[in-house]
Amino acid sequence: MLIPVPHPATPLVGRSEEVARVVGLVREGARLVSIIGIGGLGKTRVAIAASHRAAEEGLDVAYCDVVAVHSAAEVALAVANALDVELPDSLSRRDPVDLVAAAIARRDWGRGTLLVVDNFEHLARTRAGEALPRLVSGAPRIQLLVTSRVALERPEELRVPLAPLACAGDDSPAVELLLARTRHAALAEAWRADWGRSRASPRASMASRSRSSSRRRARTSSRRSACSRSSTSA
Ligand SMILES: Nc1ncnc2c1ncn2[C@@H]1O[C@H](COP(=O)(O)OP(=O)(O)OP(=O)(O)O)[C@@H](O)[C@H]1O
Ligand SMILES: [Mg+2]
Repeated sequence: MLIPVPHPATPLVGRSEEVARVVGLVREGARLVSIIGIGGLGKTRVAIAASHRAAEEGLDVAYCDVVAVHSAAEVALAVANALDVELPDSLSRRDPVDLVAAAIARRDWGRGTLLVVDNFEHLARTRAGEALPRLVSGAPRIQLLVTSRVALERPEELRVPLAPLACAGDDSPAVELLLARTRHAALAEAWRADWGRSRASPRASMASRSRSSSRRRARTSSRRSACSRSSTSA
C-alpha cells in the first residue's frame, strides 16, 4: 500500500491560487514541482491540499517525509517505503539507489502516481538529495511534488514560491488563521484548566461546573426578568 497523504485536523485557510497552480502543473505532466518558502509558511499544507485534489482527479498519491533522512541510501529506502516498492534481497551489497531505481522502473505505475516529498531543504543541492530524481528517472508516470525552504536548482524543477498569507483587512486569510488559532488556544486553555481541576479533585471540578451552570441559569433568569420589566414598562 502507498503511504497515504495526511489529512490535517484543521481546514486550509486561503491558498486557493497556490493550490490551483500546483494542481495545474501536475495536470500538465510536470515531473518535479517544488513548493518553496520560509519555515512555517504553509508549504506542507499546500502540498497536502494539492495532492488530495490530484487524487480526486485520478492520480494515485503517496507521501514521504524526509525530515530525518540524511544519506542517499536513506532517501532510497524512504521512497521505496512510500511507494511500497519491494526491496531486492541484494540491497545491502550494492548501491541501494540503483537497486531501488531499477525496482521502481520495473513496476507499472498505471494511471500515474504523485509522490509528495516533504521537508527536503537539508537535502536540496546535496549528493544525498540528487538520489531523489535518480530514483524515479526510469518511471515517467511518477511525478514529484517536493516542499523545501530552498529551491532544488534542478533543470526540470517547476517552482511555486509561497509568500506570506495576505493580511490586508479584517477578512484576509492571515487574520482568519490568527483568529482560528486564537479561538483554538483559548478553548484548549479552558479545557486544560478544567482537566487540571478534575484531576486535583473530581468533586471540586463537578462542584465548580455546577456552580457555573447555576450562575448561568441565574444570569439568564435575571436577563429574562429585566426583559419582561422593560417590555412591561414600554
Ligand atoms: N493556509 C493555512 N491554513 C491553515 N493552517 C495553516 C496554513 N498555513 C499554515 N498553517 C499552519 O501553520 C503551521 C505551519 O504550516 P506548514 O507546516 O504547512 O508550514 P511549512 O511551510 O511546511 O513549514 P516547514 O518549513 O517548517 O516545514 C501548521 O500548523 C499549519 O497547519
Ligand atoms: Mg513543512
